[in-house]
Amino acid sequence: MLQTLREQTATLHKEIEKDNTAGLIMDHSITLEEYKLLLLQNYLAYKIVEDEIKQFESEFSTDKSERLAEDLTALNIDFSSPLVQFESQFHCKDKIEALGAAYVLEGSAMGGMLIAKELQNCTKLASISKHHFFNGDRKNVQGWKEFMKRVNAREFSEEEIQKATLKAQETFSFFGKIFEYQPQFSA
Ligand code: HEM
Repeated sequence: MLQTLREQTATLHKEIEKDNTAGLIMDHSITLEEYKLLLLQNYLAYKIVEDEIKQFESEFSTDKSERLAEDLTALNIDFSSPLVQFESQFHCKDKIEALGAAYVLEGSAMGGMLIAKELQNCTKLASISKHHFFNGDRKNVQGWKEFMKRVNAREFSEEEIQKATLKAQETFSFFGKIFEYQPQFSA
């Protein structure tokens, strides 16, 4: 299952990594306005996908959208009104689709670790004393390892693998779509 998910989303990962504002963190050029936008986009995507997964996986325990909400609150950014615009655009129908979506959320923690490390060198963000989402906490990677263990402990039919893969691809596309959302911040 995991190998198929990895292979079938590799191109989508490359694209999302290339176009993402997070790249500006990797080269340390990111401005405060760009960082605010990145947090808002991530919040919308994580919140919507997490809520869909939780309908089928009660033990699915990510608090990523909560941590993004903490970052946004500290920066005085309204994150509830733009949610409405995207909420209806992503759905999971069953446990297998939820697994495909969870693969994307859990796996994204690894890029998050790299980003957290480079955030320390982004001089234009020096006014932010604490990053709640890009916190560099090892717990993020722990979640990914546990996810892999859980998936590897089970057998899946070809049909299930295909279904999860389609949903993982769709989850990447949904993130891509939200990364195109670029409201102006007045503050
Ligand atoms: C600039 C942004 C990003 C960077 C630098 C980045 C970097 C990475 C790195 C280094 C890995 C680990 C590869 C490995 O050790 O095998 C990884 C894995 C992964 N990333 Fe990203 N990533 C970024 C954005 C994203 C986004 C936005 C998503 C999801 C929406 C995502 C989803 C994943 C997934 C699912 C994996 C796990 C792949 C696997 O091993 O099966 N990444 N990323």
